[in-house]
Amino acid sequence: MLTGKIIVVTGGAGLLGSAFARAIAKQGSVVVIADIDVQAANSVAQDITSAHAGKAQAETLDITDKASVCSLIDRVNARYGRIDAVVNNAYPRNRNYGRKLEEVTYADFCENTNLHLGGYFLVAQQFSLFFRKQGDGNIVNMASIYGTLAPRFEIYADTPMTMPVEYAAIKSGVIQLTRYFAQYFKADQIRVNCLSPGGILDKQPESFLASYKAFCSAKGMLEPADLTGALLFLLSDGSRYMTGQNLVVDDGFTL
Ligand SMILES: NC(=O)c1ccc[n+]([C@@H]2O[C@H](COP(=O)([O-])OP(=O)(O)OC[C@H]3O[C@@H](n4cnc5c(N)ncnc54)[C@H](O)[C@@H]3O)[C@@H](O)[C@H]2O)c1
Repeated sequence: MLTGKIIVVTGGAGLLGSAFARAIAKQGSVVVIADIDVQAANSVAQDITSAHAGKAQAETLDITDKASVCSLIDRVNARYGRIDAVVNNAYPRNRNYGRKLEEVTYADFCENTNLHLGGYFLVAQQFSLFFRKQGDGNIVNMASIYGTLAPRFEIYADTPMTMPVEYAAIKSGVIQLTRYFAQYFKADQIRVNCLSPGGILDKQPESFLASYKAFCSAKGMLEPADLTGALLFLLSDGSRYMTGQNLVVDDGFTL
């Protein structure tokens, strides 16, 4: 599906990013695993190259630092001569992230929103400017069902978890930024779409998994591998004429 493409995945060492990187390499692209945790990125890259020689490379990146984003673009372009796509997927947050609404301070709200939504803006801005010079490009922003759906707080009852208030602001912002960028760069052969997953399995409490599943069709919370088909579609020429769209993969949770 993606033979010969050069694709950057920010946060490529994480839960979804590492599954995305594997799937991209398997489809014949070179995947650049760009992460603030370069050790973890190296380990994912090594794991992938053991099965797909030459198809993965680790790079250091801080999505909240313009010099870091620009330097990544320069290094990847110098090495491969072009960049086909970027998956805006990193997940920066501060140590207080995930608290209930009553405990979220103004400073924490602003910091988490700046890191995540601000970082996604910066990556999309700098890659778009590079893609405009290159003559084409493709951006996939990672959004979430919580960018459009009001949280179902009852499923978090009896767990220390919640749906963070910053996340609602960040992900609705990512969905609207997707439309803004798609419109702004429509004449430049740059496509911009977003992918909105439902919840991803990550050792959550059983009671929560059961409450969540009651809203779903078959599986409930999904595994990272359940998202890769939709991502590969957005990265491939199969979605060539799609731009500004939000693709939801959630086993029916938001219906
Ligand atoms: N996990 C879920 O349930 C879920 C559901 C819907 C959407 N998403 C979205 O998918 C994306 C990936 O989520 P995940 O669960 O895989 O996250 P994760 O925490 O497992 O991985 C995030 C990665 O981003 C890296 N990172 C953090 N700050 C960074 C920075 N400043 N610059 C570069 N890299 C940085 C981390 O080192 C880590 O490798 C996020 O946008 C998240 O909101 C996740």
